[in-house]
Formats: sequence, structure tokens, C-alpha cells
Amino acid sequence: IPTNRFVLFLLFMFLFPQCADPCSRYTELREDWRSVNNVDQSNVRCDQWVNWDGWYRFYLGGSSAAIPEKCVPSQRCGTHASLYITEPNPTQTSDVVTRTVCNNWSSSCCYFASHTIKVKLCPGNFYVYKLAKPSVCHLGYCAAHFHLLAKIIKSYISVSIKYLD
Ligand SMILES: *[C@@H]1O[C@H](CO)[C@@H](O)[C@H](O)[C@H]1NC(C)=O
Repeated sequence: IPTNRFVLFLLFMFLFPQCADPCSRYTELREDWRSVNNVDQSNVRCDQWVNWDGWYRFYLGGSSAAIPEKCVPSQRCGTHASLYITEPNPTQTSDVVTRTVCNNWSSSCCYFASHTIKVKLCPGNFYVYKLAKPSVCHLGYCAAHFHLLAKIIKSYISVSIKYLD
């Protein structure tokens, strides 16, 4: 039976290769209002109203962007409580990682209930995210440009320092 399952799996991958890898099957999110630099509050968005489905790639001004890894000031990113991930985006393309999403509101970097999403670094140096609805309104995902090489060097240095102590 395991063998049959494996054959079915291979057949499925052959017929629907795009289902296998989120790096080749994602929706583009080209919404400049998601920028961490956006302080405009004339149209406050809520990502709880979006029916998130599958994987997404963020763009800002036409180039790839990522969800920030640090608490973002509130009333940015075209929303009230700006959403960010509490741990770094991955620096290796090998796996899909799970990240906690928090929000900045009322002087707290995790005021409303958090939730989790999935992240993958793709060949070609861009991230894809399996997004989910935040707990309340108005919470919205932020986007920022990122520098992968700088990130890799930084994580290499922090790993080296860890091994030094
Ligand atoms: C959270 O948002 C407030 C209000 O915008 C801001 O003053 C504060 O610096 C933010 N916290 C962090 C850690 O960025």
C-alpha cells in the first residue's frame, strides 16, 4: 500500500507540478499601501476581511518585499495595528517555516491575539507566504524591502558568535 501511495504521489506531482512548490504557484500582492513607510490613515484596511487562499508574494514599487521581522509602529502599512513576524524570515530555500504574526497597538508589540503563517524563501531571492486572517480588525500585514545577502551575513555572524561562547 505505501508503494501505491508513492506512485500516486508521483503521478500527482507529474500532472500538477505547480501544486508541489509554492515558489511557482502564488498570488502577487502589489499593494504599495502595505509599506512600513506608509503613514496615510485615510483608508484603514483590515486583513481579516480578506479570504486568504494559498501562497502570496509581496511587491512594493514593483520589486519583491517581505513581512518585517521587527515590531512596526502602529498606524502604518495602511492599517491600525501593523502586523509583523516575531522571528526572522528564513535564509535558506530548503524548507517552509512557521512564523508567529504579532501586531503593535497601545504600546504593546503583541496587543491583540497572534496567529501563525508559513514562509518560504524561493530560488530567485523572494519570499512567499501562506497568509491567514488576523484575529480582529483593523490589523494588516506590513511589507518592506529586504536585503537577503545582508540577512545571510547577519545570521552567519550571529551563529558564529553563538559558537564562540
Ligand atoms: C509601536 O507603535 C508605537 C506607536 O506608533 C510606536 O511609538 C512604538 O515605537 C512602536 N513599537 C515599536 C517597538 O516599534
